[in-house]
Amino acid sequence: MDFIPDHKIARDSVHDEGSGTFGTYSMAYTVSNEDLRKTMQFIPKKCDNALVVAASGDHPLFCSLYGAKSVDTFDVSYNAKCFMDIKVEAIKKLGYIAYLEFLKSIYMLKVKPFCTIKDVKHMPEILEKIPKIESEYIYALQDKVLFSRGAHPISAASRPSILEYYRMRAKVKEPYNFIMTDACNVSKYLTKSYDFIHLSNIFDYIPGGKHEKIIAGLMDHVNIGGRIVTQCVNDGYDEVFGFYMYLMSKRYDNWKFEKKFIETKSVFQNGVWVLERIR
Ligand SMILES: C[S@@+](CC[C@H](N)C(=O)[O-])C[C@H]1O[C@@H](n2cnc3c(N)ncnc32)[C@H](O)[C@@H]1O
Repeated sequence: MDFIPDHKIARDSVHDEGSGTFGTYSMAYTVSNEDLRKTMQFIPKKCDNALVVAASGDHPLFCSLYGAKSVDTFDVSYNAKCFMDIKVEAIKKLGYIAYLEFLKSIYMLKVKPFCTIKDVKHMPEILEKIPKIESEYIYALQDKVLFSRGAHPISAASRPSILEYYRMRAKVKEPYNFIMTDACNVSKYLTKSYDFIHLSNIFDYIPGGKHEKIIAGLMDHVNIGGRIVTQCVNDGYDEVFGFYMYLMSKRYDNWKFEKKFIETKSVFQNGVWVLERIR
């Protein structure tokens, strides 16, 4: 990834969920507000390559945990990339309780105006392990809150259990590949095909009219037996995505389309749309 952050622009533009928008420097989520165990169950049995949004880092981590051998990520936000790298290093270094405390301290920075990222226990050692361009950026913006969006880490549906945590650690050896792009352009950057593509809670934020093109672009990068999974977290959009995915499946005879209901603790989820390449 050759994106070089501009500290001045970042300083002026970092923003959180209050704005309801996402961009190059939008604040990253500390943890996912979805129950990722539920959507990762749609990972096919054979999954060599998966593509997911970077978000809080939980999407790729749960994707690895639930069977993907290699996971690539994309996101429109540089903060998401930085935080995903921090989380991977934190998992390698910290025990379970220390990890939860670490996330909690990062989340609480948004309500502690006199604390900075440097005050988070273990953060300085972890920042030494991520790419220098990222740690320099984080230190340059230390008076800003970069990674505290969304749900509280302890009550979040995707808080890993102790068993999940140590299994995740065993799976995650390297930082995840990352493509910094808007989902509208992601297929242009793909150089391989995938067994699982998860477009979680992304379409909700994309202007109408672009969904069909995004799905069509991604369909060119799915292996036989592979799946594109979307889910909507915001009320009202669910049927719209389903409609586009249904349309796409009808256009070609090698795709199957299904809506799957999932039972989850997360108040945000109700169903998942699955587009599967059958031949
Ligand atoms: C849409 S948010 C929602 C939070 C999500 N439910 C979770 O559990 O993390 C997830 C991520 O998508 C990214 N994102 C939002 N719109 C995007 C877009 N058009 N293209 C690429 N990434 C996007 C955000 O930067 C954020 O990191």
